[in-house]
Amino acid sequence: MSLKIYEDLKKTHTEQASAVASQLPTYFTKEAILDIAKATKKDNLFIAEENGIVVGFATTKHTHLSTAEITWIGILPNKQGHGIGSKLIKTIEDKTKKVRQLLVVKTLAPVKPPDPYIKTRAFWEKQGFKLVDIIDPYPGWDADNPCALYVKP
Ligand SMILES: CC(C)(COP(=O)(O)OP(=O)(O)OC[C@H]1O[C@@H](n2cnc3c(N)ncnc32)[C@H](O)[C@@H]1OP(=O)(O)O)[C@@H](O)C(=O)NCCC(=O)NCCS
Repeated sequence: MSLKIYEDLKKTHTEQASAVASQLPTYFTKEAILDIAKATKKDNLFIAEENGIVVGFATTKHTHLSTAEITWIGILPNKQGHGIGSKLIKTIEDKTKKVRQLLVVKTLAPVKPPDPYIKTRAFWEKQGFKLVDIIDPYPGWDADNPCALYVKP
């Protein structure tokens, strides 16, 4: 099985990345999937491909001079928990290290059960991200969606 992780500089895989997002309805609303489709086109796009099939993606953007934000990330449901997300983050860290001092990600903070983002927060913490703040309400986010702000040097 061959896994390839790369930055899609020519934007040849935007549709495949959005297709991955649309298979994660527990995590991404219909509105979010539309935003992801836009982000794949205007932000930096990273792709995880297994045997030629796109199984994961991530988008990043430079929000401030010293900061890169991971705007979206998703791995196909049946490919989660096999280290692909970790490898995407490693690639993003390597590719952005010359131009940023901090990596930032915003995710859903703990909410009443069912809380599908428990494993997502465990993922960020495992990658070395530190919880900086919980912002509730977060401007632009739906009500009852507290934002957990994570940062990694
Ligand atoms: C979060 C996500 C990107 C992680 O990618 P992944 O390839 O599944 O993660 P990895 O296999 O690299 O896992 C790394 C660590 O994350 C945590 N993790 C991943 N899957 C987990 C699971 N099912 N249960 C608990 N922890 C889990 C563990 O700490 C794991 O470390 P370990 O393997 O040593 O136990 C992926 O699961 C995903 O697409 N989730 C749905 C969408 C989402 O939450 N996007 C992020 C929005 S901010």
